[in-house]
Amino acid sequence: MTDYEARLATIDAAESPTVAEDYAALSREHLSPVLGRYFERSWARGEGHRLYDTAGKSYLDFACGIAVTALGHGHPAVNAAIHEQVDRLVHGGGGLGHYGPVSRLAAAIADTLPDPLDTVFFGNSGAEAVDGALKLVRRVTGRPGIVAFSGGFHGRTWGALSATSSNLNYRVGYEPLLPSVHIAPFPNVYRDFGGDETAATESAMHALARLLAEQVPATSVAALLIEPVQGEGGFNPAPPAFLRALRDLCDRHGILLIADEVQSGYGRTGLMWAFEHAGIVPDVVLLAKAIANGLPLAAIVTRRELQDRWGVGAHGSTYGGNPVACAAGIAVLETIQREGLVGNAATRGAELAAGLRALARSDVRIGDVRGPGMMVAVELVKDRVTREPDGDLANAVSARCADLGLLLLTCGSAHQAIRWIPPLDVTADEIHEGLSIFREALGAV
Ligand SMILES: Cc1ncc(COP(=O)(O)O)c(C=O)c1O
Repeated sequence: MTDYEARLATIDAAESPTVAEDYAALSREHLSPVLGRYFERSWARGEGHRLYDTAGKSYLDFACGIAVTALGHGHPAVNAAIHEQVDRLVHGGGGLGHYGPVSRLAAAIADTLPDPLDTVFFGNSGAEAVDGALKLVRRVTGRPGIVAFSGGFHGRTWGALSATSSNLNYRVGYEPLLPSVHIAPFPNVYRDFGGDETAATESAMHALARLLAEQVPATSVAALLIEPVQGEGGFNPAPPAFLRALRDLCDRHGILLIADEVQSGYGRTGLMWAFEHAGIVPDVVLLAKAIANGLPLAAIVTRRELQDRWGVGAHGSTYGGNPVACAAGIAVLETIQREGLVGNAATRGAELAAGLRALARSDVRIGDVRGPGMMVAVELVKDRVTREPDGDLANAVSARCADLGLLLLTCGSAHQAIRWIPPLDVTADEIHEGLSIFREALGAV
């Protein structure tokens, strides 16, 4: 029995609380209803790859706090790093000087990225990183235009929201949003092109060329902003040829290419960065979510010259680059590297996708299984020919999985896709367990 298995056994053997505390009633009184929730369960604790509700029931956690807890809950190395830094210093403020964990994490992140990406600005959340990047690209290019892509999700702050179109409810009632942000069609290979990557790429490039010919000249565009694999929009990978064509277009017109890797980065797709699948190097890379395994931390990474030109004092943050979050970040990165977890994501992801594809062969409600590494979506449809999304079914399957002890979230504009985001250190047995619960849930709805 490994240490980890022994720990799990101890927890499973522990007595369940006799009273299941239900925080929902208190939440209803005092927490804003604006925050949508996938589940109305009350959570007590997390341990390894399991979450425990207040009644002591355990759940295999393949939601990972929406792609955040990539090393599961209470990872010993991450917790040790947090405890040590808490005792040393919780907060000094980036504006006051330099801190070991912050400088060291910046160097370690730069090491994971291809040249010339070597300079890091730390913030606290994905949306903040997106907003900061939009400011950076406008300032350094002197151009106002931003082009983002349909179905993309970049966050809830004004700048990030202006580039977001994965769900109408996120935008409605907030107009006017940031001016000069244009949304071009994303090559949604399954939904719009029935799996034809070449047609999807050609069509999207054609639409982008028209946008630049009819609405905004390339000389007024500061940046293209894209998720190499769309997250909230449905786990839709951008075809590699499309990303290469964007890189080429940017090079020809002096436009900066921003890769929003907030959800797809850090080994999630079986490579350290999702843009690597296309063999390109973006000008700006945005990261958050997995980088501190649950503590708030985000980063904007570019080549040195861009952030030199951004200029001292042009942007800032009180909490960004908090030493405790950065200490956790170092432990996360060291663990990913030491344990070969990027490779594990590729191997386990292939097993997962194979299991889901086998299921799809006998269940016509599964329209598509897609995604590299462990960023895998199962898209549920009313009809395989029309590909009409079935969000109700996906929500029912997700709810049933939770009843059976497996946490899976939905995504996509109609919540039609069930997304699999297991921890990067998931085992083959856990993938097998997840698949069999999913099979049972699907069979029961
Ligand atoms: C690709 C992407 N960008 C940005 C964000 C926003 O991150 P945050 O919720 O930390 O602001 C998200 C969140 O889901 C995301 O998936």
